Amino acid sequence: MTAQIIDGAALAKAFRAEAARGAAALGRRPGLAVILVGDDPASAVYVRNKVKACEEAGFHSLLERYDAQMTQSALLARIAALNADTTIHGILVQMPLPKHLDPHAVIEAIAPAKDVDGFSTTSAGELMTGLPGLRPATPLGCMKLIESTGVALRGKHAVVIGRSNTVGKPMALLLLQANATVTVCHSATPDLALHTRQADIVVAAVGRIDTLTAAMVKPGAIVIDVGINRKADGKLCGDVEFDSVRDVAGFITPVPGGVGPMTIAMLLMNTLQAAQAALK
Ligand code: GUN
Repeated sequence: MTAQIIDGAALAKAFRAEAARGAAALGRRPGLAVILVGDDPASAVYVRNKVKACEEAGFHSLLERYDAQMTQSALLARIAALNADTTIHGILVQMPLPKHLDPHAVIEAIAPAKDVDGFSTTSAGELMTGLPGLRPATPLGCMKLIESTGVALRGKHAVVIGRSNTVGKPMALLLLQANATVTVCHSATPDLALHTRQADIVVAAVGRIDTLTAAMVKPGAIVIDVGINRKADGKLCGDVEFDSVRDVAGFITPVPGGVGPMTIAMLLMNTLQAAQAALK
């Protein structure tokens, strides 16, 4: 079997167009504030892409860049000002932060209604209990990619590899809410293949090249690759050994062009959702 490649770039484009239509219908521009502290080059690229996507969708965006020495109290004061700013509906503080800043305190300072990353304990609690709320963009994008295959999740076995607060844990909860049977594997799982070989859906989110190989995949499975790694030759690749797994899987996301573009599209959808709720 040769897997159908799930085109994340095309699906993201459709969601970005939907976000733009939603913004136009709202009568006021949804506003996203992005804060970047320090000069991590990868973060600078991510942040620029987020702001550019906002502009293309007709959103208002605000990029605030601060040097790596910014104090925690100065950052919390900026967040408080943005919480009170009625032109801003979403606030995103790009991670990772410099070591002297406490990411938990920073995330908790964002008003829950503006937590478009879905990283706060309020948003996490809403996801855990099935209440409506803002869901983390990357796992939400993975759900949309899975839905785009047309395969119903109810009763399927999904294996998530990775247990981060930003991807693995919320991914497992979203799959559970969609009535899948969910297994979460991680660095202390003794026999990863034992689990993945039984999975109808595998989501790989560990950040390690070749974590999932063809022998570990059930024929016809849906394989979602969240990893972004750089090979020795400088090329980007995911956590999945794409060239071999595509011969076994039913559906597979490429890297680049799979999950990555969906993260930004879902950030726009979250910002629209926050603006719609604020303007109701
Ligand atoms: N750093 C890498 N991905 C993300 C993300 O989705 N949100 C934030 N705030 N920081 C990140």
